[in-house]
Amino acid sequence: MLPPPVIAHRGAAALAPENTLASFRRAAEMGARWVELDCQLTADKVPVVIHDLRLGRTTSGRGQVCRRSLAELRSLDAGSWFAPAFAAERIPTLAQALSEIARLGLGVNIEIKPSRGQEAETGRLAMRAAAAVWPQQAPPPLVSSFARAALAAARSECPDWPRGLLATALPRDWRTALHDLGCRTINLDHQRLSADRVAMIRESDYAVLAYTVNDPTRARELWGWGVSSVFTDNLDRLLPLI
Ligand code: G3P
Ligand code: MG
Repeated sequence: MLPPPVIAHRGAAALAPENTLASFRRAAEMGARWVELDCQLTADKVPVVIHDLRLGRTTSGRGQVCRRSLAELRSLDAGSWFAPAFAAERIPTLAQALSEIARLGLGVNIEIKPSRGQEAETGRLAMRAAAAVWPQQAPPPLVSSFARAALAAARSECPDWPRGLLATALPRDWRTALHDLGCRTINLDHQRLSADRVAMIRESDYAVLAYTVNDPTRARELWGWGVSSVFTDNLDRLLPLI
């Protein structure tokens, strides 16, 4: 099953601290049906949910995520940077985030965001953690990454879960890449899309998803071109359109 027209980017990123449990809960309250999250590995190889490879922007910590243990990361405040009311938010493990997302009845796009050199390992361990908690009866997650080696590893672990190749602009070798990785979708920066490009991809029967679309007029235009879903921070502006 492919995602709905609006996907909550990093949860309800404009309304709560991105990639936290509060953000996924807020997305559900707003009426979103799917959320997107970013995951990477701690130094002790636990998949956790955070976007940046460094801690400084969205937590009380400093330095690289991949050099800190889970215990160190869990002690950080992942909410105050957004607003003091969110001071209790922590960096969730992928397992915690997916358990909560499933409990909320939401679908999910797991974006694998590996550190350099950890592409395959991150794909493999993220899928193992996800498969251990994601309910079998729920629609499977869409697994995406800019890192092709991560998608190849994800395919080996969870061959039946749909995959999406992330890119900023459409890569020259998009047909072979999508075919070789067994992808169902290509997830592109909306600023690099055109009606012709979307039509060309749709002719090959792949779905096109576009990030990050916060303007309602632009979202309507993209859907009109055949883009099936947009990732947005602004659920309050985009959900009323569907
Ligand atoms: O998956 C869509 C989007 O999240 C990709 O870019 O940097 O926001 O993870 P980024
Ligand atoms: Mg992302």
